[in-house]
Amino acid sequence: RRPIGVAVLGMGNVGTEVVRNLNDKAADLQARVGAPVELRGVAVRDLARPRGAVDSAVLTDDAESLVTRDDIDVVVELIGGIEPPRTLIRTALQSGKSVITANKALMAVHSGELSEAAAASNVDLYFEAAVAGAIPVIRPLTQSLAGDSVNRVAGIVNGTTNYILSEMDETGAAYEDVLAEAVRLGYAEADPTADVEGHDAAAKAAILASIAFHSRVTANDVYCEGISAITADDLAAAKKFDCTVKLLSICERIEADGVEKISARVYPALIPFEHPLATVNGAFNAVVVEAEDAGRLMFYGQGAGGAPTASAVLGDLVMAARNRVNGGRGPLESTYASLPIAPIDDVQTRY
Ligand code: NDP
Ligand code: HSE
Repeated sequence: RRPIGVAVLGMGNVGTEVVRNLNDKAADLQARVGAPVELRGVAVRDLARPRGAVDSAVLTDDAESLVTRDDIDVVVELIGGIEPPRTLIRTALQSGKSVITANKALMAVHSGELSEAAAASNVDLYFEAAVAGAIPVIRPLTQSLAGDSVNRVAGIVNGTTNYILSEMDETGAAYEDVLAEAVRLGYAEADPTADVEGHDAAAKAAILASIAFHSRVTANDVYCEGISAITADDLAAAKKFDCTVKLLSICERIEADGVEKISARVYPALIPFEHPLATVNGAFNAVVVEAEDAGRLMFYGQGAGGAPTASAVLGDLVMAARNRVNGGRGPLESTYASLPIAPIDDVQTRY
């Protein structure tokens, strides 16, 4: 079988682990895909930086040329932010490449145009790693639950803030120190303001609401409040009421004034100790899905960090590579309808 050529854009926390896997697990990946999976290019910003065992012949600082090269079948975008990823992904899709991305900031705003570009070229656009790190949640919502009606998706979807809140609570460490540790451990975004102000969780909420409710929700539609104002005194006060504080992301179908709407919101909330979400600590995430027939499902696991996120990226890569070997693209996203977004006053702010 003809080998599948892969280009990885970005070799930071996640990209480094993806590249390591592509090199170390080449035989396993070949067996799972049914053809060799070859790393043919890695784009970075700074070519002078040491990149470990990576063959310097595959390194480039010209991502634009890499994504259109004839020997590339699948492009894995791990740069982050809106530009240049938006243009690189669109160009790759228009050039007939399948694309994998972990970029929630981008997918929460531009998934519509990018999905359309993928459909027009009959290639895959997968983004499992964009929500909740290692936890499979995009595929269960878009495929396993495709025949059910999901009414609610809620939980903890930002590892950095969960790590900060649980470390402050358990060890009494100062906010700034724990945030610096989350950056060092590779949990935080390039600009951690996105984490602590709730924007990263809001982007994930937009993605979850869009796929769960077959609608088009963007990050701007999500009510958003972060954790930067939470103090040690707040956590101590919560404890007195047998509660802890978690940054929650809640997406649900609601009915307001007889109209079906979607509510998507992110804010720190008091969680009673006996609630399952109270035991989700460190950089772990948990997503609770409520569907009409399936009932309540809970997904739990590592929500941030290079290696866990690379697991989700590699899963997407195997799927996209298999689809190419078999001469097609994977299951289509369902068609999006447009449901109105409920203003926060329409919604009871409870968990
Ligand atoms: P990093 O900031 O660690 O890495 C970004 C990489 O992109 C760096 O290697 C950088 O190059 C490279 N880069 C930046 N600009 C360009 C450019 N113009 N051309 C080519 N390469 C460029 O990010 P992460 O690995 O942490 O995150 C990557 C993506 O994954 C983001 O979208 C993030 O939101 C998402 N994600 C991250 C998770 C995590 O736990 N870290 C979890 C889930 C998703 P250089 O090395 O030269 O600076
Ligand atoms: N910064 C993100 C987080 C990475 O802390 O959850 C995973 O998406």
